[in-house]
Amino acid sequence: MSTRHTIIDQKPVMLKVEKKQVESDSFATLFFNYSLPFKPGQFVMLWVPGIDEKPYTISFHSKTKFGITIEAKGIFSQKAIELDRGDLIGIRGPFGKGFDINDNNKIVIVAGGCGMAPLATLVEKVNQNITFIHGARSKEYILYPDRFDTERLFCTDNGSFGHKGLVTDILEEQILFGRHFDMVYACGPEIMMYNVFKICEKHNIPCQISLERYMRCGFGVCGACVCGRQVACKDGPVFGSKALRNMKDFNTKALLKSGKDVDLSTYFSWRSQ
Ligand SMILES: Cc1cc2nc3c(=O)[nH]c(=O)nc-3n(C[C@H](O)[C@H](O)[C@H](O)COP(=O)(O)OP(=O)(O)OC[C@H]3O[C@@H](n4cnc5c(N)ncnc54)[C@H](O)[C@@H]3O)c2cc1C
Ligand code: FES
Repeated sequence: MSTRHTIIDQKPVMLKVEKKQVESDSFATLFFNYSLPFKPGQFVMLWVPGIDEKPYTISFHSKTKFGITIEAKGIFSQKAIELDRGDLIGIRGPFGKGFDINDNNKIVIVAGGCGMAPLATLVEKVNQNITFIHGARSKEYILYPDRFDTERLFCTDNGSFGHKGLVTDILEEQILFGRHFDMVYACGPEIMMYNVFKICEKHNIPCQISLERYMRCGFGVCGACVCGRQVACKDGPVFGSKALRNMKDFNTKALLKSGKDVDLSTYFSWRSQ
């Protein structure tokens, strides 16, 4: 029988990949037999020995297993996605603040591209009173198209799946149709989350978004993920409306691996879909 473990911050625990599930040409999920204490929205640091260590959200979770969904982007994620059953990987965490959940709330979940991954366990945990909006560049980038019982309003930039347009168009439409929402949860490209936040402010609806910044330590000591006066790994990655109102770096500035800051309005690839 599996026991409950707490993974320590500084030292990775080595785990064997139990199963690999190919989600599409660009996404694969690695599953581990490990009982990880976890709240939707938290993340782990994934270490591929000899390559690097990077932050990943938990996208599948049960009492005895968890899974991480990886989108193939650069060197690290290409290597991680090539791992298979029996390969060893290091895990530190879970880290950060997850989503605050109130079971009685009527909620909207807004997912853009790979931003679906941190929201997936939230959808499964809440599973009622949800309006679920999910968008991506095109059909191939819609993650877990058949995973949930909850009905989803799909959209793609090129119209290859669902409505042609943006998740924010659908969100505003739903609000204007008179739907009442107590909370909006969002994850996706930063510009998308910023626009979700602006819509929420306009209509007086609280929101929680999961912010992405370059991360190294994962527990608040290196400063790589600084975001205004906060660090995304420890104070976030989930931030609520109040914190976002005072966060001048939101959708404006982020630090690169080098520590140099970058203007997000001109650095499109920071969080590409
Ligand atoms: C809290 C959090 C949770 C994440 N969860 C997921 C997830 O569930 N699935 C997923 O596919 N991706 C997730 N990411 C993004 C993932 O960490 C990066 O895409 C990955 O590090 C890319 O590495 P690479 O070498 O393959 O690509 P690169 O070509 O090096 O980078 C591709 C993109 O990832 C960013 N990135 C690179 N290294 C880091 C780093 N150390 N920290 C933060 N961003 C980085 C780059 O700035 C760039 O935007 C998450 C990021 C954060 C901060
Ligand atoms: S990653 Fe080191 S402070 Fe956030």
